[in-house]
Parts: sequence; C-alpha cells; structure tokens
Amino acid sequence: MIGDLRPREAGIRSVTKPDPSAGSRSPSGRRIRPLAGLVLILLAGAPSAAAQSDGVDYHRRFESLCGPCHGHSGPFARHSLEIVNGTLVGRTTGVPVQRFLRRHPGGLTQADIARFRDVMHRQVEAGGVFQDRCAICHGRAVELAAANLVFANGDLLIRYSRVPVRGYLANHGRLEPREIEIVHQALLEAVARR
Ligand code: HEC
Ligand code: HEC
Repeated sequence: MIGDLRPREAGIRSVTKPDPSAGSRSPSGRRIRPLAGLVLILLAGAPSAAAQSDGVDYHRRFESLCGPCHGHSGPFARHSLEIVNGTLVGRTTGVPVQRFLRRHPGGLTQADIARFRDVMHRQVEAGGVFQDRCAICHGRAVELAAANLVFANGDLLIRYSRVPVRGYLANHGRLEPREIEIVHQALLEAVARR
C-alpha cells in the first residue's frame, strides 16, 4: 500500500488509501489491526513505554466496549464530540460526555468515565489543531501519517529522512510547544492505527 507511492508526491494532499473512518465499518480488519500496531510500538520500547501501555490499554478497552457501535476512538471523538466552553459534549445530544456516560452502554466505572473523557477530549483538541494549522496543506492526519511517517527505533520518524517528527515540528507548522505534543500524539496514534 505504501510501496507504490512516489515519495515527494505522496506527502501533500494526496489521498493514499481509502479513508479508514469513512463509509461502512467492516467489523473484520478494523478492530484487529490497530491493536497490532500499538502492540508493536510497545514492543519497540518507546521512551514513553508507560504512556504507550496506557494508550494500548485505553484503545483496547474502547475497541471492545464501545467499538462495536462507534468504531475507533479517535474518529468517533472528532466526528461526534466537541468542546464547548472547555467541556467535552456530544454533538447530537449536547450533553457533557462525563454525564452522558453514566447511563450509557459499555459499563464504565466512574474512574473509567473520567479517563475516557480525558482521552477523547485530547483527541478532539488534536483534530482541531490539525484542522486549523495543517489540513490546508496536508489533508487529513491519517493521510499524512500513512504516506510520510513511520514508527521506528522507538520514535515517530519522517519516513524518508528519518528525522524525528517532534523535532521537525518545532520549526514547521507554527505550533506552540503544547500543540506540538497534541499533534505528535495524534500522528503517533494515526500511525499505530494502520
Ligand atoms: C450498543 C451500542 C453502543 C455501545 C456499546 C456504546 N454506544 Fe455510545 N451511543 C450509541 C448510540 C446509538 C448513540 C446515539 C443515541 C444516544 O443518544 O444514545 C450513542 C451516543 C454516544 C455519545 C453521545 C454522542 C453525541 O453525539 O451526543 C457518546 C459520548 C457515546 N455514545 C460514547 C460511548 C462510549 C465511550 C462507549 C463505550 C464505553 C459507548 N458509547 C458504547 C450506541 C452505543
Ligand atoms: C503551508 C503549507 C504547510 C502547512 C500549513 C504545514 N505543512 Fe507540513 N509540509 C509542507 C510541505 C511543502 C512539506 C514537504 C517539505 C519537504 O519536502 O521538505 C511538509 C512536510 C511535513 C512533514 C514531513 C513529511 C516529509 O515526508 O517530509 C511533516 C511531518 C509535516 N509536514 C507535518 C505538518 C504538521 C503537523 C502541520 C501542522 C502543524 C504542517 N505540517 C503544516 C507544507 C505544510
């Protein structure tokens, strides 16, 4: 899928593969592969192994508890949730997610609910930053990740130059340090979801 792309054409605004979050959700492939990717990251010994393991755990649980109805966490959060005055709310219901999840399928505990809300909050934030600052040149984060990025040697790297993405973003895209972390995390997840 990646091999047939020409490097320099691949980067900008090119749709390199079918949008994984669009169209029908095939229950096969989509639930298994992302985990495989995340586990790989874990095995590769990322510097933030603890954080990664936490992420793997979150994604695994979202997949099994919510995935049958909502698909993947990131696309679900970006499409269905929004931040209103600092609070994460459902776009359709308008209800704060924290409250909504108390009476919703999935069987989350109070602690789970807070954690799920925090992760989804970050996912919505990251989508917003990417949309505002990067999308005009790069399209979607999953496309950028699929065409140009790899996870190797425990780090997220630009595929051809092997430059770490975190460092690259310090001088590209006009991001605040906090935004760099948000976008970096989102791209890492996008790579892991492949
Ligand atoms: C059995 C299917 C099912 C499962 C499992 C499920 N949901 Fe839902 N969810 C729905 C449906 C259907 C709606 C929209 C109808 C409604 O308002 O309840 C919804 C709505 C939502 C909304 C509000 C979206 C909006 O636009 O207002 C949130 C947030 C949400 N779900 C999160 C979750 C999370 C997190 C989990 C896992 C812990 C989960 N759901 C598990 C079916 C499900
Ligand atoms: C004004 C257009 C523009 C904006 C806005 C922009 N980029 Fe880029 N970006 C480019 C171009 C052009 C390249 C290719 C540079 C090169 O070939 O050396 C690139 C390269 C990259 C690369 C390296 C990919 C590679 O293979 O060389 C990454 C990662 C990247 N951009 C991420 C981002 C992120 C994240 C944002 C938002 C914060 C962003 N860019 C905003 C135009 C843009």
